[in-house]
Amino acid sequence: MFRQLKNCHNVEDLRLLAKQRLPGPIFHYIDGAADDEVTYRRNTSAFDDCDLVPNVLAGVEHIDMSVTVMGQKLAMPVFCSPTALQRLFHHDGERAVAKAAEKFGTMFGVSALGTVTLKEIGEIISTPKLFQFYFHKDRGLNDAMVERAQEAGFNALALTVDTITGGNRERDLHTGFTSPPRLTLKSLLSFATHPAWAANYFFRDKFELAELKDFVQKGSNVAVSVGDYFAEMLDQSMSWADAEALRAKWGGPFCLKGVMSVSDALKAVDIGADAIMVSNHGGRQLDGSRSPFDQISEISDAVGGKLDIILDGGVRRGSHVLKAIAAGATACSGGRMYLYSLAAAGQPGVEKALGNLKSEIERDMKLLGVKSISEIDRSMVRYR
Ligand code: FNR
Ligand code: LAC
Repeated sequence: MFRQLKNCHNVEDLRLLAKQRLPGPIFHYIDGAADDEVTYRRNTSAFDDCDLVPNVLAGVEHIDMSVTVMGQKLAMPVFCSPTALQRLFHHDGERAVAKAAEKFGTMFGVSALGTVTLKEIGEIISTPKLFQFYFHKDRGLNDAMVERAQEAGFNALALTVDTITGGNRERDLHTGFTSPPRLTLKSLLSFATHPAWAANYFFRDKFELAELKDFVQKGSNVAVSVGDYFAEMLDQSMSWADAEALRAKWGGPFCLKGVMSVSDALKAVDIGADAIMVSNHGGRQLDGSRSPFDQISEISDAVGGKLDIILDGGVRRGSHVLKAIAAGATACSGGRMYLYSLAAAGQPGVEKALGNLKSEIERDMKLLGVKSISEIDRSMVRYR
């Protein structure tokens, strides 16, 4: 079937359009996850084990879906998680996602493995920006990244804590995916069958990891798999003391991305974190890990009110966001929900994805009988 953006009504429609537009190795890098992808599937199917219990006759003609996360007011309760390598998915990369997020008044997370400089992102949007930090062995690189995020006016820093080594992403092993893409007979064939993508990749700005290229050749000029990058470059001795020191150095709103247990959520409070992203990295790291939605109520019981709780991963529908908030999340974030649309159509694609999600949230809030996010509570969900 020939697909067009205007006929994409949900994340799955956009996923299929992305699949049509992208060379196989790149599509599967986005779409794939670790081992048997059990956790990846569970992240979304967990929402199906829980039902909403609506109230009616609630006078819902005016809806306010805004939330405050790490002191930043967001016009909708879901934001764009940081994801790597975006100019590989669409030549505008982070620029497209940044501008779409600004249009919808939500936060844009930029990865340490981003492909546009933090400085440029700071110049093109004035809405909330989060920088995602990977703790490298190279302390000079770590310091430079913090300074650049500060100079570019980023509002929050998220330290990713679930990638202490690379996840086993078998789709990438099968396709031979690397950054930058290694030119082999197989990859060249996949580029040749996607000529529009290939023309943009080869004839526009050279692909590189904007904040890392001055320090590391791998990823920008020397092909490396994401798993090998994590295993070789990131510091496996990273500890709570390092996280606390990073928070102090940064000095602004600070978040730990990839907390799953109640005991770690309590430690996050102890080191003064402003938020945690309850996340298993979209199922790309520890397969068999519990889903963020399954963990959210016990985490909320333990640390709710002490820091912001962001459910990250698995969100494909507005109703998923409402279930997460009912179970105790402050807000949600997601990667693939906007990445497929970036690959499918650049900025208009991301706008379509965020627009679909926003209208689902608005419709579902009316049908649930709530006018604002603060009215959503546990009385509105039942587990099967
Ligand atoms: C990611 N994610 C990620 N996380 C991070 O901290 N730094 C990164 O560079 C990336 N890169 C990245 C690339 C791609 C292609 C994907 C799909 C994901 C994880 C991301 O921030 C988020 O945790 C997951 O995407 C959440 O799962 P969903 O929403 O994709 O189901
Ligand atoms: C990923 C990275 C880069 O999940 O975090 O692919």
